[in-house]
Amino acid sequence: MAVTIKGTGSFLPEKVLTNFDLEKMVDTSDAWIRERTGMSERHIAENDTVASMSTEAAKKALEDAGKDASDVDLIIVATCTGEVMVPCTACKVQAEIGADNAVAFDINSACSGFLFALQTAAAYISSGMHRNALIIGAEMLSSIINWEDRSTCVLFGDGAGAAFVEKCEEGRGILSMAHGSNGAKGGVLYFRKKEADPAKEDEYEGKDAFVHMNGAEVYKFAVRQVPDCIEKVLSDAGLKASDVDHFVLHQANIRIIEAISKRLGVGMDHFPVNIEKTGNTSSASIPLLLDELNKSGKLKDGDTMVLSGFGGGLTYGACVLKW
Ligand SMILES: CC(C)(COP(=O)(O)OP(=O)(O)OC[C@H]1O[C@@H](n2cnc3c(N)ncnc32)[C@H](O)[C@@H]1OP(=O)(O)O)[C@@H](O)C(=O)NCCC(=O)NCCS
Repeated sequence: MAVTIKGTGSFLPEKVLTNFDLEKMVDTSDAWIRERTGMSERHIAENDTVASMSTEAAKKALEDAGKDASDVDLIIVATCTGEVMVPCTACKVQAEIGADNAVAFDINSACSGFLFALQTAAAYISSGMHRNALIIGAEMLSSIINWEDRSTCVLFGDGAGAAFVEKCEEGRGILSMAHGSNGAKGGVLYFRKKEADPAKEDEYEGKDAFVHMNGAEVYKFAVRQVPDCIEKVLSDAGLKASDVDHFVLHQANIRIIEAISKRLGVGMDHFPVNIEKTGNTSSASIPLLLDELNKSGKLKDGDTMVLSGFGGGLTYGACVLKW
């Protein structure tokens, strides 16, 4: 059974933190951040939470799909920064929007989260277990950043994006999907909730409750693994990279996206980006960009898209979707 995205929505917090603001906080410069990452500003949640941002994005996706909350069968929130562990953020969203008929749960696979939520929803819907799903990627990375560490604090932002997913006619929607994980490389990008016991050695070197990243290793992983995964889904769908209208990739770093465009031999005009204004919002980045493209009318009926997420875990995945 074919499955597609019927509506999108997003939410960005009001406060904007620019590179110039960061210059006043750590030893960095607007030029360094723009050259190395492509980012100029990012949104930071002050009065919002992961649950409230998820709820706003979810309501807009339902509106865009022309659905009522009572129609929703399944709610999946992809997040690794929810303020409350139990109950999960998806249950909070269910209560807030009044989706009384839905089952709700979260998944945590960092920056691959939204893609994995989409694949999970597609698997449930094509099995016949659920008719539809509201999937959300939402993060408040500002809450787990060490604002004194220039190597990480310039990279991330907050926000949420959502999509309503439902069955569709054959030959449309998701044509192929693939995903993978490499847990042995988990130490390359991680954060822990609690400070570790300094007496106990473990694979995670940092003892504090902040994001730690080996930027160069993450970069190498992304530029090798992501094009391979994209080539696999394209080949499974019987397509070539040149057949794709839009590559909607996780917005981690403009240089990663440029390297992937080069590896696939497709110009950057097929790689929409919004990283300049949002920074890396982890699981929120793909649905934020998707909603921007959808609402600005850039997605035409029948367009071929590749969605791809990658990040902590390490995890990665991609799918081909006929809009
Ligand atoms: C993080 C990243 C931008 C760093 O770029 P880079 O070119 O590899 O830079 P390096 O880490 O080699 O650091 C170069 C220098 O800049 C310095 N630097 C690091 N952050 C800086 C900042 N914000 N401002 C100014 N200088 C900075 C480093 O200390 C280093 O100085 P040194 O040479 O004196 O030691 C890059 O590795 C990257 O994009 N990695 C992928 C990260 C990512 O996308 N993660 C999320 C994936 S989901």
